Amino acid sequence: MSVGIGFAGAAWAAGGTADVPASIAEKKDFGCGEKGQKPCPMQGWMKTVMQSATNSGDGAKIAEALEYVAAKPPPGMAKWAAISKEGAEKAKKGDIDGAKASCKSCHDMYKKKYKDELRANAF
Ligand code: HEC
Repeated sequence: MSVGIGFAGAAWAAGGTADVPASIAEKKDFGCGEKGQKPCPMQGWMKTVMQSATNSGDGAKIAEALEYVAAKPPPGMAKWAAISKEGAEKAKKGDIDGAKASCKSCHDMYKKKYKDELRANAF
């Protein structure tokens, strides 16, 4: 399945701005991730793979998922890999709470930026 995603796509042009607050009007339309749209690639992966690994409480699974994330650092997010690797190391030692701290670190640092700029990227 291939989906054409343009930053200046038709939905953007047709969106209109009359009753849309400026902060939302400036958002890019990635064609995914918003209400009524399919999840964006990383968003879907996080919700399924990462979340189910975490729910399982299985350190090995969580470590595997975090290592996958570590191997995919987006440009300009210098601490992405280090945060993920640190979480993976903790998960391997059975420190699940420590591993979960890496979720929060990365989300606090990069989630907004990723969602604003990169969320259509393959993951
Ligand atoms: C190195 C960065 C990074 C790490 C580590 C990370 N995440 Fe995420 N996560 C993201 C980004 C970026 C998004 C936003 C993707 C999007 O919406 O396009 C996200 C989105 C999510 C979502 C989707 C719902 C939401 O909040 O937007 C869930 C659920 C999630 N992450 C769970 C986890 C869990 C659980 C862990 C730890 C075990 C974790 N993540 C670790 C970067 C990370």
